[in-house]
Formats: sequence, structure tokens, C-alpha cells
Amino acid sequence: MGETVQQPTVPEQAGAPAVESTAGGREPLLEVDHVTLRFGGVVALDDVDFTLYKGEILGLIGPNGAGKTTCFNAMTGIYQPSQGEIRFRGQRITGKKKHHITKMGMARTFQNIRLFPEMTALENIQVGADAHHKTSVISALFRLPRHRREERDGLEKAKRLLDFVGISDRMHDAARNLSYGEQRRLEIARALATDPVLLCLDEPAAGFNPAEKEELLQLIRKIRDQGVTVLLIEHDMRLVMGVTDRIVVLEFGKKIADGLPAEVREDHRVIAAYLGVPDDDVA
Ligand SMILES: Nc1ncnc2c1ncn2[C@@H]1O[C@H](COP(=O)(O)OP(=O)(O)O)[C@@H](O)[C@H]1O
Ligand SMILES: [Mg+2]
Repeated sequence: MGETVQQPTVPEQAGAPAVESTAGGREPLLEVDHVTLRFGGVVALDDVDFTLYKGEILGLIGPNGAGKTTCFNAMTGIYQPSQGEIRFRGQRITGKKKHHITKMGMARTFQNIRLFPEMTALENIQVGADAHHKTSVISALFRLPRHRREERDGLEKAKRLLDFVGISDRMHDAARNLSYGEQRRLEIARALATDPVLLCLDEPAAGFNPAEKEELLQLIRKIRDQGVTVLLIEHDMRLVMGVTDRIVVLEFGKKIADGLPAEVREDHRVIAAYLGVPDDDVA
């Protein structure tokens, strides 16, 4: 375990096999280009630099407070980097508004579930899909044909998505009455309703038991098989090992490793960063 004392692996040179299986070549989808983000004196992201390639499942891991969620927030337009820039589909998105980035095809879920608790599962998804509706407020008010068609298509799509994530039997139940695991799935379905090319999941398996985690892995693979690139934030090392093509590790805002799961698992800096969490999580 301790013999790898060299620099963290640079994926552009060493990681090529990671995405061969996806046949898409190595087309960059998201480029986090030397991003630094400060909150007052706290450097939440310190010159973080990595690329996410089309078709892959990239794990973003690291201990609590490492900067994982901040990275998502910078990508999705919630926070602006102090330095550096982020490009999505070749376009600079630093400084762009949240809804604009959603329209470009990036969707996310949150570490803390954010559903409308009183709305049904179906309604929660339809709200998510609204980001893409083209009808104006006026045609919606008067329920003009285009709006009616979109409503109908929206309903069909929402049902399909609920089925896809495996909770179609709960479609008419209020979100607050769903189990925790079902709520997590509903959040994923809602994110998918915006037709993303990139889905960012912030600790989607937090609080899951091993069986639920395994089911979630299957869902993540199924999402990727639909052609959606996935960025997965996870604290549980074992979970990311099982599903990711490549892993980026953050610690105290800095990238400390970037490579294939097998390489990252052996990296002494990663092992050290994870000391202090139960052995189970490092296995
Ligand atoms: N809005 C904020 N204001 C001030 N500090 C923040 C804010 N958001 C995150 N931080 C700090 O940035 C660091 C990284 O946090 P975060 O990205 O949430 O870590 P992770 O998701 O890896 O657990 C932490 O030190 C955290 O306290
Ligand atoms: Mg977090």
C-alpha cells in the first residue's frame, strides 16, 4: 500500500482505458480549469483542475469539508470562482446564471433533499421539467394547444421517469410520504426531467444501507447507459470504486489524486486522507 510515492496520476496520460468502454473517445464535456474559490479566509477550492469526458462516470470524493459540494456549486452557477474558469460543452460557464446552465444540459441533485413535500411525486417531476417548456406564460394561462400538448407530454415523460427510477407506484403520493430512498430517487428523476447531458449527484447514497446502495449503483449505470455523463460525489469509497470509470480526490480544497479507481485506491495520499474514517469505507 505505501510504495506509490509519485505524483497523482494525470488522467490525460494514464487514464485512457477508463472511457474506452464507452466508445465515445475522449471528448471533454466539463473542464474545471484551475478553479480557486474562497469564502472569506476559507479556501474551499484551491486551484482545482480536472476534466470530465463525455460518457464516463466520474467520482468526486474526499473527506467532509474537502470542497466537493462547493465544486458542484461553482459548476452550477451558485458560486463564482475567485480564479479560474469552468467550461461546459466547450463554452465558458463561469458567470452564467443557474437556469442558463440547466438549459445547456447540466442537472444536479442536492446533498440535502430538496423536494416540494406537499406535491405528488409526479408534480415534483413536472416542476423540474418546466425549465424546458417553451410555451409562454400567456399561452399557459389560456391553455392554448401548444401548452396543452406540453402538459400532456410532460405528464407522460414524468411517468416514464418515475418508472425509470423504480418508483412509479408512488406517483400520486405526496413527496413527504415517500421513504427516504424513494425521495432520493425522485430527486434523480426530477433532475433527469431537464434532459441533461451531464447529471451531477451530490452524495445520492447518503444514509442508505448496503442493499439500497447496490440498487443505486445499478440506477447510476442505467442512467449512463442512456447516454448521460455522470459526476458522482460520494463519501463512501467502496461505492465509487464499484461504479466509476475515473476518480478525482479532493482534500482541504486541493486535488490530491486523479486516476483509475484501482490507482486511486492505492494512492498513499488518498489512503492518508481517508484515515480517521471507518476501515470499511476505505476497503
Ligand atoms: N457558503 C459558504 N460559506 C462559507 N464557507 C463555506 C460555504 N460553503 C462551504 N464552505 C466551506 O468550504 C469548505 C468546503 O465545503 P464543502 O464544499 O461543503 O465540502 P464537502 O462537500 O466536500 O463536504 C468547508 O470548509 C466549508 O465550511
Ligand atoms: Mg458536501
